[in-house]
Amino acid sequence: MDSNFKQKWEEYRSEFENVLADYLERMQIRPPVLNDSFRYSLALGGKRFRPVLMFACARSLGGKPGDVAGFALALEMLHTYSLIHDDLPAMDNDDFRRGKPSNHKVFGEGQAILAGDALLNEAYSVCFEECRKGKTYLNAAAEICKNAGVGGMIAGQAADLFFEQKEAGKAEEDFIIIHKTAKMIVSAAVVPALVYGADENIAALFAEFGKHLGILFQLTDDILDVTGDFEKLGKTLGKDASEGKLTSVRVCGLDKCKELAEQHRNICRQILDDLPYDCSFLSELTDYVLNRDA
Ligand code: IPE
Ligand code: IPE
Ligand code: MG
Ligand code: MG
Ligand code: MG
Repeated sequence: MDSNFKQKWEEYRSEFENVLADYLERMQIRPPVLNDSFRYSLALGGKRFRPVLMFACARSLGGKPGDVAGFALALEMLHTYSLIHDDLPAMDNDDFRRGKPSNHKVFGEGQAILAGDALLNEAYSVCFEECRKGKTYLNAAAEICKNAGVGGMIAGQAADLFFEQKEAGKAEEDFIIIHKTAKMIVSAAVVPALVYGADENIAALFAEFGKHLGILFQLTDDILDVTGDFEKLGKTLGKDASEGKLTSVRVCGLDKCKELAEQHRNICRQILDDLPYDCSFLSELTDYVLNRDA
């Protein structure tokens, strides 16, 4: 990894950690079990890929992370809730997340469901606060809401569960990838353009970039489930095959999946070339997603 890229990533990441720490400091949650379960998964970290992406898109547009900090927080909360629920025995039944026992392994299933629900509701409270800043913020909040909901991540998760152990093809698998993962990444990529009231064509390019980056992100997640390392990923490997998931690896095979990942990386690059901004960090970020091991 290019050291300049790494440094910028760390800059955005630590900027986000500060936003999260400020938010958590203001929160007073009772009963203690909800306080602990709510903080547990959020504080464990993870890559913070979506906030980093959102901050980088804001910078490309000539803005700064602080302009979209509330939305980065809301999106990471939505993402974290989706992971807590994703790990439940009723869904993927995963005992590890972010290198630690999953939320339900520590607090029990009922409390883990509630921690996820609390993160979901809080994410919307944060979005509502942002909406007070004006119409462009309202547009951004609506986009986040749409991509996380019934036409977005939840639809993808529903299809992911439905097709477990079932025969289905590329069309169904594409639906799963686009909805469960790419839509949330579209939010990260397009929110800054919406907040700044950028031209519609510019916002559409950021959304298209987010979609292909999101597809690439899930392709590499599926590949890493087969080829990855537990220490680096912080989650159990081989789960997709053992649960009979309809993943890109199952539909296309490992080699074709790697080819597809490169194709989506190339599409991302083309889109970035069409944007009239300095998108060098975003281009490196795309390469990072293609080559990631965590
Ligand atoms: C995992 O997301 C779930 C997918 C959408 C593939 P991440 O790989 O971003 O997980 P964290 O946030 O780093 O833990
Ligand atoms: C999950 O996809 C996507 C979400 C919306 C949480 P996966 O089930 O493949 O994510 P991991 O592999 O458990 O992180
Ligand atoms: Mg899943
Ligand atoms: Mg899972
Ligand atoms: Mg996975």
